[in-house]
Amino acid sequence: MEIIIQPDPGTAGALAAKIVARIIKDKPDAVVGFPTGATPLEFYRNLVRMHREEGLDFSRVTTFNLDEFVGLPPDHPGSYHVYMDKHLFGHVNVGRDRIHIPDGLAADIPATCRRYEEEIRTAGGIDVQILGIGVDGHIGFNEPTSSLGSRTRIKTLTRQTRRENAAEFGGKDNVPYHVLTMGIGTILESRLILLLAFGAKKAPIIAQTVEGPVTALIPASALQHHPRTILILDEEAAGALTKADYYRYVYEHKPDWQKY
Ligand code: F6R
Repeated sequence: MEIIIQPDPGTAGALAAKIVARIIKDKPDAVVGFPTGATPLEFYRNLVRMHREEGLDFSRVTTFNLDEFVGLPPDHPGSYHVYMDKHLFGHVNVGRDRIHIPDGLAADIPATCRRYEEEIRTAGGIDVQILGIGVDGHIGFNEPTSSLGSRTRIKTLTRQTRRENAAEFGGKDNVPYHVLTMGIGTILESRLILLLAFGAKKAPIIAQTVEGPVTALIPASALQHHPRTILILDEEAAGALTKADYYRYVYEHKPDWQKY
């Protein structure tokens, strides 16, 4: 794992956008996996700005979102369809037929999940997957004890995750119990993974993810097995890492050809 510690969420989001923009410039038909939530907002703002000001071209990019709530129509204000339109897809030239978000209204959920996996394979696999992380260590909505080899499927949100999402639904009781999410096995097949985490609230789980044992109790710890994962943190989220000085030193002394 590569750990990059940035001063604040603004610089961290800008760096993540720069890395993804470089991938899209090098490979205009790149396949990009997107998360939702509060964490990637600055990242999306930067991608939109690069599209407007620098001509970053999304026309041949294919996208796959990590997850969606079960039972929500795509125009529900809490749905990730609406979120993605609001923060990215509505502002860049990505082709509508190249956008993939799990169908929360699917009548046959296992078949829909199998199709999602097939669509990722047919697209050639995910070149870069961006992730946030829950305070319990979930990535996508793979809650603790998810199989580290899991594929896209239905999951039940923990009480805590439902509480964390209460604001978008006008209260925790309105948050759906179920989601469709890419599995940990699905995520681990991405060629590059960028995990973003900001704020003191995320510090303990980041320390366990990076410096603790690999365990299904901390789903993000499975990323220790991934050959190219970069964590981009702000100072606060990095606050509990015992080897933070070493991570800073590594970043400062990167060979020129490896710099972002
Ligand atoms: C959402 C997702 C989740 C979030 C996580 C953190 O698509 O995959 O894993 O990334 O719940 O959410 P925030 O960023 O709101 O703290």
